[in-house]
Parts: sequence; structure tokens; C-alpha cells
Amino acid sequence: MKHLVLFIFLHITRTYSEKTPQIIQITENQIVNLGGTTELSCLVLYAHGYSVVWEKLGQETNDLNILSSDATSLVRDTRLSLVHDPDSATYTLQIRDIQNSDAGVYKCSILISTTSSVSKEVTLEINNAPIIYDNFPSNVVVVENNSIDLECYAKGFPKPQISWRRENSALLPSGGIFYRGNIFPINNIKREDKGVYYCTAHNNIGKDVRGIGVDVEFPPSIRPFKSRIEQPLKFSVILGCRMEAFPSPVIKWSKDRNIITNNKFYKIKQETSFDYKESTLQISSLQPNHFGIYICSAMNKIGFDAAEIVLTETVLPACFYPRTD
Ligand SMILES: *[C@@H]1O[C@H](CO)[C@@H](O)[C@H](O)[C@H]1NC(C)=O
Repeated sequence: MKHLVLFIFLHITRTYSEKTPQIIQITENQIVNLGGTTELSCLVLYAHGYSVVWEKLGQETNDLNILSSDATSLVRDTRLSLVHDPDSATYTLQIRDIQNSDAGVYKCSILISTTSSVSKEVTLEINNAPIIYDNFPSNVVVVENNSIDLECYAKGFPKPQISWRRENSALLPSGGIFYRGNIFPINNIKREDKGVYYCTAHNNIGKDVRGIGVDVEFPPSIRPFKSRIEQPLKFSVILGCRMEAFPSPVIKWSKDRNIITNNKFYKIKQETSFDYKESTLQISSLQPNHFGIYICSAMNKIGFDAAEIVLTETVLPACFYPRTD
């Protein structure tokens, strides 16, 4: 019993009298270029007889990879080496030809026992030009008067700034030419808001640009070239309608509730330009039953519109050809 008490006493004395190992200094956080070199130094005190290790915290898990122990590098990677300078009690981990996988937290520890250690950490970050993630569709379709958020995210270091602009730096629906932020809201979208919106991610290393095409769906609106036309029998005539719609509409001509199709007298033609579509109905050699009311109509999944053209018989021919080939 007496021996046991003495043993405990001695142990406590030893613990208190011996100076606790300390890490005096560790390299400050590093930002390095790809392919560059860095040195992470750990300056220790009262560490004689203890193990000093460098570890790297895993990126996905919190596992630690032991890189070195005392003066020995424990990894096969030839880019890594450890220099121990006994005079200054410094353990320096040197990493050459820096790669992105080298980014992370490095920890220097003095192992005091199996359960206790003292440690300090240093973070290594690697400069990278921005790369925009491909996780938002590059084309979106919105129904007019609805709202949409365009999104853009990028990786890179330093953290990229995200900004938005339109094709030809046109005015944004919200006003202005630039918008900053990952999410670009377009509220109450109008047909004229369609087009390509560019997201730019930039940092001081470089930039990346991605375009998002926005299409706006809206119902057709249709107008006749001329709503009243007069022409004598046996002459020919062209009736026409112009319309705007997205998606592209189905166009029909009708008279007296009958759909008109091409035949000996009738010839329907369609022309599409960037913003609108035109449809013409050519009637050759007018017969008495050709006079009356014609309707051109356009329909898409958003809606429908129609226009009326009145064709009446006259004596004098009008040289009226609203569209000639
Ligand atoms: C959106 O609103 C405008 C104005 O109120 C209207 O003219 C247009 O038809 C609407 N568009 C749709 C797709 O409802």
C-alpha cells in the first residue's frame, strides 16, 4: 500500500515537473498556384522524446492521413518530403507540383500518449480559374407573364463572382445591364425578354461564361394584310395574314366554316421570319362562290386568334397584290 502511494506521488510530480510539449508556431494558411510549391512548417518545444506527425484531413470524410512521423515521410508520393531541422526543432512538410487534391487542412501534432496530443492546423488552398457547374439546363421555356429564376454556380478559388448580362449587353428585364448573384430572377416575363442570358463567373485567376437560352411562350395574335378586298370575276387575288406566336402556330384558312385546302383555285403559302409568320391565300380565276368572308386563324398550345377578310365582287380590277413572289 505504501509503495503504491509513493508510486502515484512520483508519477504526479513527474507530470507536473516536466514541461508540456507545445507547438510554438505553424505556417499561416497558404494559397498556392497549381504546379507550385509550398512548405508547411511546425515549430515545436519540449517535444524531445515525443513523436511529431503531419497529417492531412480527408476531404470527404474526416479521416486523417498520416503524412509523416518525426523525420520520415510516410507516403509514397515523391512530391512530398519532410525536413526535420533538429536545431530549430522544426518539422517542415514540403509539397511540390501542387495539385488540386492537395487542398485541405494539414495538422501537425505532438503525440504525448495514445490518448492525448497537442496539435495545430494550417489550410492549403489552391488558386483555380472558375468553372461553371453544368447543373442548370442551357435552355428554358417559360409561359409569358410567369416568372423564372436562372441559376449559375461555379467552382474555383478565390470564390468566383457571378454576374449576368444579355446578348449584346441588352437591357435586362429588371433594368440595368449587369446583375450580380447566383440566382437571376425574371419576374412576369414578356415575349421580348426571350433570348440568351450569359452567366459569367470570374476571379483573379480567370473566368468562365455560360449562356442560357430563354424562350417565352405566348398565344397567337393575328392581323390581315388588308381586311377588305374587291376584285372582278375571273381575276385572281391574294389574301394574307401576319401573326406572332410561340410556339409556332398551326394556321388555317376557312370560308363559310369550311377549311380551305389547296386545289385548282386555292393556293396557301407560309413564310416564317424571325419574329413573325405570314400566310397567304391565292385565289386564281375568281368564281361567284369565291366571294364572301374568309377567316385566317392561328392556334398554339397557349391560345388562339383569328382575323376576317371580306372579299367582294367589283367591276374594276384592283391591281392589289399584297405579297408577290
Ligand atoms: C400576359 O399579359 C399580357 C398583358 O396583360 C397579355 O396581353 C398577354 O396575353 C398575357 N400572356 C399570356 C400568355 O397569357
